[in-house]
Amino acid sequence: MSDIRKHIEQLRTSIERHDYLYYVENQPEISDRQYDKLFEELRRLEAERPDLVTPDSPTQRVSERPLEGFVVVTHDVPLLSIDNTYNESELREFDKRVRKGLEGTSYDYTIDPKIDGLAITLRYVSGKLLYGATRGDGRRGDDVTANLRTIRAIPLTLKGKGWPEQFDVRGEVYMPKRAFAELNAAKVEAGEPEFANPRNAAAGSLKLLDARITARRKLSFFAYSVGLGSTEVADCHFDALMKLRQWGLPVNPHTQEAADIDKVLEVCRMWEQKRLELDYQIDGLVIKVNRYDQQDVLGTTGRSPRWCIAYKYAAEQADTVVESITVQVGKSGILTPVANLTPVKLAGTTVKRASLHNFDILQKLDVRTGDTVVIEKAGEIIPQVVTVKLQTRQAHAAKPYTPPAACPVCGGAVKKDENGVYLRCINLKCPAQIRERLQYFAGKGQMDIDGLGPALIEQLVEKGFVKDFADIYRLRFDQIVQLERMGDKSTAHVMDSIAASKTRPLWRLIAGLGIRNVGGQSAQILANAFGTLELLMAASKERLQQIEQIGPVAAQSIYEYLHDADNVHVIEGMLEAGVNPEQPQARKSEALAGMTIVVTGTLKHFSRQQIEQAIKDNGGKTAGSVSKKTSFVVAGENAGTKLDKAHQLGIDVIDETEFMKRIGQSSQ
Ligand code: IVH
Repeated sequence: MSDIRKHIEQLRTSIERHDYLYYVENQPEISDRQYDKLFEELRRLEAERPDLVTPDSPTQRVSERPLEGFVVVTHDVPLLSIDNTYNESELREFDKRVRKGLEGTSYDYTIDPKIDGLAITLRYVSGKLLYGATRGDGRRGDDVTANLRTIRAIPLTLKGKGWPEQFDVRGEVYMPKRAFAELNAAKVEAGEPEFANPRNAAAGSLKLLDARITARRKLSFFAYSVGLGSTEVADCHFDALMKLRQWGLPVNPHTQEAADIDKVLEVCRMWEQKRLELDYQIDGLVIKVNRYDQQDVLGTTGRSPRWCIAYKYAAEQADTVVESITVQVGKSGILTPVANLTPVKLAGTTVKRASLHNFDILQKLDVRTGDTVVIEKAGEIIPQVVTVKLQTRQAHAAKPYTPPAACPVCGGAVKKDENGVYLRCINLKCPAQIRERLQYFAGKGQMDIDGLGPALIEQLVEKGFVKDFADIYRLRFDQIVQLERMGDKSTAHVMDSIAASKTRPLWRLIAGLGIRNVGGQSAQILANAFGTLELLMAASKERLQQIEQIGPVAAQSIYEYLHDADNVHVIEGMLEAGVNPEQPQARKSEALAGMTIVVTGTLKHFSRQQIEQAIKDNGGKTAGSVSKKTSFVVAGENAGTKLDKAHQLGIDVIDETEFMKRIGQSSQ
């Protein structure tokens, strides 16, 4: 076996193992950064040898082309729904029915968390993922394979051995609480409506036609049963799940067996509170009769089985009083109404405020100052008002809330957003927006300027010392030290932190700008693609769109941001003041941007490695074989079949001298 082939296979095995350790065992052995390095290395080798790329390579999870629509799949074994119970006596009733149905034979249960996500089925054939589909109406669902492949928790190839030649794994795709909160924050920034709960967020993400967007949604997966082929896997449900785990499928670590209904009830009680500690939302537990033969005896009524029941927890709620309704102005000017509440304990924290999302929602709920409201947490994180207790509203209560006609902070004009969801303050010089933008810039995920927190920023803006990012780098000791709660020591610390931030990695600076639709992840992609701020600023809209994982909407906002005279002025101001971001790699030009180039034959001026580096340095990438996607071929002496192929496909062939001309290098 060639060295490169061996290396590629080793990398794939290693990445698959780390996916397994992370998602199934919950025990990662390496950092995300080390993982990314392995991934990058694999990508690089596969770019050199596209003939060695296989569909189950970890690099092939995200397909580049959006689908036109979804194909309908008929499920061989229908995906049933489950009856719900909400209290212990109903659960005992269920157990009585089971006992009667099984006519005195002994039985036990499996209990596992009921994940609040979306049911899917995965078909594995010869240990490889063939397709995956949504539940749909239980009989027919949508083929969402392209989207499911982007979920790293779903193995493309099974581990170990002993799996049936063909079988279906059933489970739940979900969005972890943190990812849900982040996605909603990004939605607001982009002026789009938020998802009501993690389940909708997961469903919305799986139904996207562009898998590149799904890939960024941080979805995960738990396998909870076997459809087709179950009896070939094991005799009972619990053993089947353990087999699935051995084969590399993520089975919930809290799945357990219970000898009888008393044990089941004990587990249900325990999870009532403990569920809030999980990093994904569960809305109950699923209780299943363990043995498959006993499941068969019990059978199914209409659409749900008699051997299974869900014990559901009601979402935790609390009553409290709205003391006032205020309006917050975000960094892009979005006005968000907020209910300030009499502090109340809810699902583990004290809640003092709840977002009312936008003025349409506020109007629909008709929340008024003085009202008693019911609150709960969306995705168990974000407090929100569910309803107003109208029966407690006083006759002399406040009038319905009217949306502000002007920005509550700067008094400037407000405008309904493009999507008609949000009101925006359109004054870019609004002090609230400036404060929010500066806070974001200095935040941990961006430039990470320790000591430059909200209280200091507020004073700096108020005094007129800081109006934009560049002003941060022009601050003097004497300006800061005179401010409230600032002594010599804390001022020196802030000055040091500001100085240290000048050489942060380029992606942090790009992220800090707060360009709409560009978060940390996109910033990293941009930094890697362009290498320097200057090249990013010079990029055309088309070039931005060509970057893998940067969609047309983000490309548009990046382009607009970097072609706005005020923004350019601020960026130049930062550079003049000594901001000098660390560059991911020196990029010489964009002459070969977006091009795929094949090199063949013996070259005079470059070794193979040198020319590949030159191609990379100038924005292009190399491929090992000629195809329709090849931009041009650089041919040296004794070029062989690749040259013939290029001629056949009508692809441009150039020599070394011409190549050097194209990258602005002379052959002397
Ligand atoms: S078992 C016949 N187990 O709940 C039994 N379902 O309300 C098939 N769900 O459509 C389902 N977690 O989407 C099962 N641990 C779990 C589950 C689970 C979530 C969902 C599933 C199903 C819905 C029924």
